[in-house]
Amino acid sequence: MRRTALTLVLALACASAFADEGARNGEKLYRVYCTQCHGLQGNGKGINAAHLSVQPRDHTDTAEMSARTDDDLFKAIKEGGKAVNKSVLMPSWKANLSDEDVRALVAYLRELCCRK
Ligand code: HEC
Repeated sequence: MRRTALTLVLALACASAFADEGARNGEKLYRVYCTQCHGLQGNGKGINAAHLSVQPRDHTDTAEMSARTDDDLFKAIKEGGKAVNKSVLMPSWKANLSDEDVRALVAYLRELCCRK
């Protein structure tokens, strides 16, 4: 009985370690590819934002971000804003990033939006 509980605890710890690893990779990718528009804090105030006619999404906006499924975010990143009826100013990243990269970014976005 005790052993079962211990195994369960270890399994959960491993699962969350994997989720965390995804988010850490996502954070690295976000810093390279996304912050110039979405900002270092992910609040939509990157250096390019002032020059864009549609403002980048504030990824720390819990209410807005909670209204999106992981699939919505995945599609927006992979296929670009236009694919989810948003601005073409949000580029498509499928030529640069693998599905695994995009999943890592989604995991990081989920962390960003729920930090407060
Ligand atoms: C050239 C500027 C630019 C870059 C670089 C950029 N984005 Fe965006 N992004 C935007 C803009 C502008 C929007 C808002 C589109 C709209 O609301 O119509 C947006 C929207 C989004 C959305 C949709 C949010 C929603 O409301 O559903 C996601 C997700 C997103 N960006 C993720 C990323 C990720 C991840 C990266 C890096 C891989 C990235 N963006 C890089 C400009 C950019």
